[in-house]
Order: sequence, then structure tokens, then C-alpha cells
Amino acid sequence: MITESVRPVTNCRVCGASDWQDVVSFGDVPLANAFLEPADSYEDEPAYPLGVISCRSCRLMSVTHVVDPEVMYRTYSYVTSDSETITRHMEFIATTCGERVGLAAGDLVVELGSNTGQQLAAFARHGARVLGVDPARNLAAVANERGVHTLPEFFTETTAGDVHRSHGRARLILGRHVFAHIDDLAGVLAGVRALLAPDGVFAIEVPYAMDLLEKYAFDTIYHEHLSYFLVRTLDTLFARYGLKLLDVERLPVHGGSLLVLVGRPEAGRPVTGTVGELIAAEERAELGSDAAYREFARGVRVVREELSALVRSLLAEGNRVAGYGASAKGTTILNICGLGADEMAYCTDTTALKQGKVLPGTHIPVRSPGHARNDPPDVYLMLAWNYADEILRKEADFLRSGGRFILPFPKPAVISADTAR
Ligand code: TYD
Ligand code: ZN
Repeated sequence: MITESVRPVTNCRVCGASDWQDVVSFGDVPLANAFLEPADSYEDEPAYPLGVISCRSCRLMSVTHVVDPEVMYRTYSYVTSDSETITRHMEFIATTCGERVGLAAGDLVVELGSNTGQQLAAFARHGARVLGVDPARNLAAVANERGVHTLPEFFTETTAGDVHRSHGRARLILGRHVFAHIDDLAGVLAGVRALLAPDGVFAIEVPYAMDLLEKYAFDTIYHEHLSYFLVRTLDTLFARYGLKLLDVERLPVHGGSLLVLVGRPEAGRPVTGTVGELIAAEERAELGSDAAYREFARGVRVVREELSALVRSLLAEGNRVAGYGASAKGTTILNICGLGADEMAYCTDTTALKQGKVLPGTHIPVRSPGHARNDPPDVYLMLAWNYADEILRKEADFLRSGGRFILPFPKPAVISADTAR
């Protein structure tokens, strides 16, 4: 463990309390997106403690340790996928948020963690003025090249003030799968308040803790994901920082997410019924009690053991196994299940930045889909299982020729041509 760039969580970043329930602990694990060049030895590879705790006061689930964002995000290898699923989803976000906010041509949309600018490009097609803010210098450069103006910065109150002066107020501030990565929620929400138009909307998309708890999908647990939110926790958070939770919608993306709309209380926008419905569902599931998190920990242990045993038994029968999708979720599964280069022939991934590198921790080589097609395994472990439908359609030939997939959650299962939907 490298001590100067990591610190243990003490007070809850939502409510300030410090009464934590220990939920799961996975030991020291490398960062999920820290792909490496192939090397003879990986002696100096950094690893940091990975585990989850639950705040007994607001029921925020938090990682146990926060790694310095400068280490995680200044150069970043996660590039927004251009898969059918995500392209369709981004169009959905542009339409839905546009309608909910009542965006007019020329209104400013600012996105935090805007990556290569794909989502903002969809808003620009709808007539909005767009601005991205993303600390990853390599990705901000790509976005600027495609014409989506992007500041290579972390979003803070200072950045928000600069944007306000240069661009005016934002009708919509968007954060897709970035809010759960933020430690200083007070700072970011102060920035949102400084930049948001009086009747503007702050829209975020976060993994939903309910999905995590229901599916035992422990692969969303990695250092970048500091927070796993329930709706009741979000409600507490926004009220504490002078904002109001207006609407929540459950979405299937990234294994189960929430689209959350937030406004200024004084704007008087109505609160939809789904907010109360989901808070009631969380109460019915007794997610305020320690027992729910003990049950989650038990489920995680079972899936982890079953998945690792399933791969090992397929190997023992003489099968060659490879990973499908070098996602952050995937590198987490492999590290946590102890599946490495001895077990997995390679991992295939469509992201050019990842190809030719090796996975963090396990050092499994990443190969392009073309390379994989010329040398297919007998069985693929589906690491990008959140795209399972799309991938099974795309890999129909692999299945037809006798290939199989392992789907990890909620219970490890083998899929062949006979069982594929
Ligand atoms: P993703 O689920 O978007 O995110 P995370 O890294 O947060 O878990 O990652 C999906 C990965 O899977 C990404 O590296 C691209 C890869 N992928 C493929 O290789 N083939 C595919 O058909 C799809 C849909 C994704
Ligand atoms: Zn709390």
C-alpha cells in the first residue's frame, strides 16, 4: 500500500456522522483502470485497501479508503463506450433531460466528467450550447479535437465561478457516473449552486445501491466509486446543501443506475411520486438495518466462491477461458476472485487505449476483438455483463460454433447457443 496517496474514510461525506458498519473487505487491490504496459516484473505496482462500510445514520455505502483523485484521474483510460447500448442511452439522456428542464436553443449545458464529449455532442445536436469539465487531460484533448469545448479541470466552486463569468449560468448541469467518484460533495454542490440558473436542473446518474444489494454485483466496488447511494441518502444530501431532490428513475445502464434530477428549492419545481415510492421500497427492504448489509456480505462471499470455482472446474475439464470486456468492473471481478494470467488466456476489449496493455493486478493481456476472433477461447467470462444482450447478439457465431459465456451475477451461470435468449 502506498500511504501518501490514500486516506481512510472517517466522517460520512453525506451526513458527517462517524458510526460505520463494516460490510465487505477485499484487501489491497490495484486501481481498476490502471492498465500497465507488459513487463517482466510488476513489483512496484501500487495497491490500495478496498472495502465498503455503511453509515448507520444516512446509510451511505462508502469505500473504506479514498485514493488521491490526482492519481486516479489525470490520465484516464476509461473512454466512454460507443456501444449501441450507450449511444442509445445518451440520446435518451439528451431527450429526457432536455424535456424535463425545458431546454431552449442556445441554453448552456455543462457536464462534469464529460470524458470524450460524446454525451455533450448529443446535446449540441439538440441545439444546446455545451461545455465539458473533465480532469483527464488526455480525454479533454480528444473532446476539444472533436469540437466539444472541454476544460481539463476538476469541477470545484472556483471552476464553477470561472465558467459562470465566461459562459453565464447553466440551465442544465449533468454528471453521468461521476458523482459517485467525488469525495468533496460540499465543494461540488457549492459549485453547482454557483453555476446553476435559478430554474436550472442538476442531473446525475449514479449506480443505485439497491441494485448492488439485490444483485450482489460487487464488481462496482472499486476505488473510483466512493459512494453507493440509496434515494433516502440522496434526499438527505441535497437538503443538507441547499438543493432539492426532484425526481429519480431506475435505469438498467451499468448494471442498475438512478437518473436523479435536482433543483433549487425556491424554484418550486414539483417533486415526482417516484422519490417517495423508492424511499418506501428501501424502507420495506429494511435497508436502514445492519442485517441487510450482513446479508449482502454473505451473498458476495457466495458469488465470489461460486464464480471462482466455476472457472476452475471449466479449466480442469480442459477448456480455455478468456475475459470479455476489460471493464473496470471486470478487472475488479478478476482481482477479487483471484483469477489471473494462469487461468485467463487473455481479455478482449474494443478500447484501443487498453489493447496491448495488461490488466491491473492480474496482468492478463488485453487483445482486440479481431485478434480474439482468430484465436477464440472455449468459454468467455462476461466481464462487461451490463452489455450482455448486445454482446450475445454480436457473438452469435461464437455461440453457434459451440462457444459458451459465463454470466457472473446474480448467480454465476453458463450460457450456450441453446440457452442464449
Ligand atoms: P463499461 O461497462 O462501460 O464500464 P466500467 O469500466 O465502468 O465497468 O466498460 C465496458 C468495457 O467493455 C469497455 O472497456 C469496452 C468493453 N466492451 C467490449 O470490449 N465489447 C463490447 O461489445 C462492449 C459493449 C464493451
Ligand atoms: Zn451518513
